[in-house]
Amino acid sequence: MTGTMVYASGWTLDDIHWGSFDPTKVERGLLAAVKSAALVELNAPDYVTYLQRVFRNSDTNTLANIEQWGREEIQHGLALGRWAERADPSFDFKSAFARFRAGYTAPHFATDDPDSVRGSRRGEMIARCVVESGTSSFYSAIRDSADEPVLKEIAGRIAADEFRHYKLFLETLNAQDEPELPWWRRVLVAATRVNESSDDELAYAYYCANVPASQESAVPYSRKRFARAYHSRAMRLYRRHHISKLVQMVAKSVGADPQGRPTRAASAVLWSILRLRAGFAPAG
Ligand SMILES: [Fe+2]
Ligand SMILES: [Fe+2]
Repeated sequence: MTGTMVYASGWTLDDIHWGSFDPTKVERGLLAAVKSAALVELNAPDYVTYLQRVFRNSDTNTLANIEQWGREEIQHGLALGRWAERADPSFDFKSAFARFRAGYTAPHFATDDPDSVRGSRRGEMIARCVVESGTSSFYSAIRDSADEPVLKEIAGRIAADEFRHYKLFLETLNAQDEPELPWWRRVLVAATRVNESSDDELAYAYYCANVPASQESAVPYSRKRFARAYHSRAMRLYRRHHISKLVQMVAKSVGADPQGRPTRAASAVLWSILRLRAGFAPAG
């Protein structure tokens, strides 16, 4: 139930061993990161609508897979939100999510353009692989660093789902009958998606999750301030092997050799950047 156990898909909230919850083992920094992750996960229906539009002429299997993927992302949000409410009884998940929804919409969800903002369905799948690489590493890092047993279990269940999502989108990418994108275009799509993680989504989720509505006027939102707060919390969770795995997964999605020299170099650079963001000196 803990450690590196690989959980099967199809779990429900009732499968989680809530009775093992130990409030003395809740770590405040981790709690803050979990609260904001819960809001981002619960916001999946917008992404389902968007992806179904991009893949509107695809086979029923692809569309059903997108539906199922969305249901699993929502469940991630519900599990994390329920855990956060147990860990901090003053946290109101429902109202924090309502504030997040009211104040944040990803720019590409606000248009009527039926096609992918990445320029092609292949590009869209590379971007999704980048996101799932990031989330699988993030929840693996939470699983490995959490002392609280229920959070450890939830993070283990979610990490296993995120790996499966990555595989699903990689298979969908390779199944497209569009022409293969040139290498520079694949790298550009991946780099653009990585860079989008510094937009308002994570920063505003962190704000709504950790600054109660009653303190909004005293503590106004600032992207820079709350992005920094989020990153300094989240980046401390990672260990070197989480980052190596993340970079290998992204490399594979753009058609690079996951074990190649450029991939290893990218991994070393990213590790140094994350250590700096987390407030540590660069180290191996
Ligand atoms: Fe998720
Ligand atoms: Fe996912």
